[in-house]
Amino acid sequence: MAVLAQGLLAALFSRWFKLAVWWWLIQFLLPLALLVTFTLHLPAFLFLSGFLLLLVLYGHTFRTQVPYYPSNRATWDAIVQFLPADRSFKLIDTGSGTGGLVLNLAARYPNSEIIGVELAPLLWLFSKLRARFTRSRAQFIRADYHHFDFSQFDIVFAYLSPAAMPTLWQKAHREMRPGTILLSNEFFISEKAADAIIQTEGMRVPLYAWHM
Ligand SMILES: C[S@@+](CC[C@H](N)C(=O)[O-])C[C@H]1O[C@@H](n2cnc3c(N)ncnc32)[C@H](O)[C@@H]1O
Repeated sequence: MAVLAQGLLAALFSRWFKLAVWWWLIQFLLPLALLVTFTLHLPAFLFLSGFLLLLVLYGHTFRTQVPYYPSNRATWDAIVQFLPADRSFKLIDTGSGTGGLVLNLAARYPNSEIIGVELAPLLWLFSKLRARFTRSRAQFIRADYHHFDFSQFDIVFAYLSPAAMPTLWQKAHREMRPGTILLSNEFFISEKAADAIIQTEGMRVPLYAWHM
């Protein structure tokens, strides 16, 4: 009863703080899930392993405020309309996750340089292995995208978070060459209205584009 009451109280607080509805459910179920887990008497190393796995995947999120969630094929198809059809180009995915977008574009544009930069070691390793096993020309670099000079690129793609957008815009504005394109999936820039907004049927979220 105490656990149920705690879950209920947590769910009410979530509502009070105007969190999304799915948070109410998580807050309600968490104390119950903890109780059930304790009764299973699982070995302690399982919890340590789970913690370490999450740390490798999401540890940097405290600093960057950008968790991992992938873009989908419909977004990759929408990006293509911003890419030059008659010449090679250089594109960077600032936070390439497991590498889906970069691998897809590298396969479509074999003469262009498609680079994915990823901070999380496990995600980077996974994308690197995918490139190796599919013999892709895609490049994956484990680094912070802030250390890359955007003036080297014709297209900068970002799928980050609202918290990262002001700094991304300052960097893009400072470094990107005239005639190049900044693309952001889902998140817009409050300081500068987008020149194009695309949302086709299969896309869960809009794609914003700025001509620099
Ligand atoms: C929302 S995911 C997008 C993944 C991928 N671009 C896609 O479209 O499927 C954002 C990724 O950016 C990475 N990330 C966040 N901040 C970063 C930074 N400063 N430098 C490099 N990667 C970063 C995160 O680890 C995460 O994998």
